[in-house]
Amino acid sequence: MHTCTQIAVLQQAIRNHKKLDHTIGLVPTMGNLHAGHLKLVEEAKRQCDFVVCTIFVNPLQFGVNEDIEEYPQTLATDISSLKAYRCDCLFHPDSKEIYPQGIDSQTKVSVPELGNDHCGKSRPGHFDGVTTVVNKLFNICQPDKAFFGLKDYQQYLIIRRMVTDFHYPIKIIGVETQRETSGLALSSRNNYLSNEQKKLAPMLHQTLLSVSHSLMSSDKNFAALEASAKQSLKSATIEPDFLSICNATTLRPAQKSDQELVILGAVFLGETRLIDNIRVSLT
Ligand code: PAJ
Repeated sequence: MHTCTQIAVLQQAIRNHKKLDHTIGLVPTMGNLHAGHLKLVEEAKRQCDFVVCTIFVNPLQFGVNEDIEEYPQTLATDISSLKAYRCDCLFHPDSKEIYPQGIDSQTKVSVPELGNDHCGKSRPGHFDGVTTVVNKLFNICQPDKAFFGLKDYQQYLIIRRMVTDFHYPIKIIGVETQRETSGLALSSRNNYLSNEQKKLAPMLHQTLLSVSHSLMSSDKNFAALEASAKQSLKSATIEPDFLSICNATTLRPAQKSDQELVILGAVFLGETRLIDNIRVSLT
């Protein structure tokens, strides 16, 4: 696997492959790779000739109360995992390479319509940080396809919208959420959970599942479903941040006529915030 930290070196490698008419697949990550990330690499390898995975803990997407220093960094094991999945290239720049002028004066990309509610409300500025860095990665790598996890469904929709709005010739591929057998979605943040919290965490997925079953049996009393789901989380000592039944394209509150829905959920287990979602098609 080709490994580089400099934009110019990465771009030379990509140019060489483009000359051979190879398709380029991009998998952006912040590292601490688990089976969910590796599923994206696997899908990219299936669909593209040259797969670039990026590992960059992006300071611009961390809020003032979120400690970027605590974000787990496991580069050596990440490299072994990427090699095992036959990833072609790893790009792991430092902050100076991506933000040579620092982050405060950085030009930002914002997708307001999809970015202000849900996780955007709980984490102000977060999605602007995500779209700004992904925009940079798209310009640096000029991939044919870029792969994102549906676990971060709002992030996936925001990036798709950015690509549409900026006319990027990049196909965004959403990859299904990788879960533990308990249903808990894999996440780097699961590492922060105590043993006790780890036992409670699958409740988030179970609660979303039970809402999805109600929706599929034609219960359209969205507000009541949301309220009772939040209540059952609270009874299990899990603090809901939000649990919202939305239109799966616009992320606005679901209307009775909507056919494609998504149930977005975010909870706190102690200090740790976990998110998950389930998409429901009523057609
Ligand atoms: P990170 O949290 O490292 O996630 C990188 C990619 O892996 C994202 O597309 C995310 O949706 C996907 N992913 C995470 N857990 C997953 C799971 N259990 N199943 C399937 N896919 C999963 O998301 C980010 O980094 C950053 O915001 C980034 C896009 C890299 C921009 O900095």
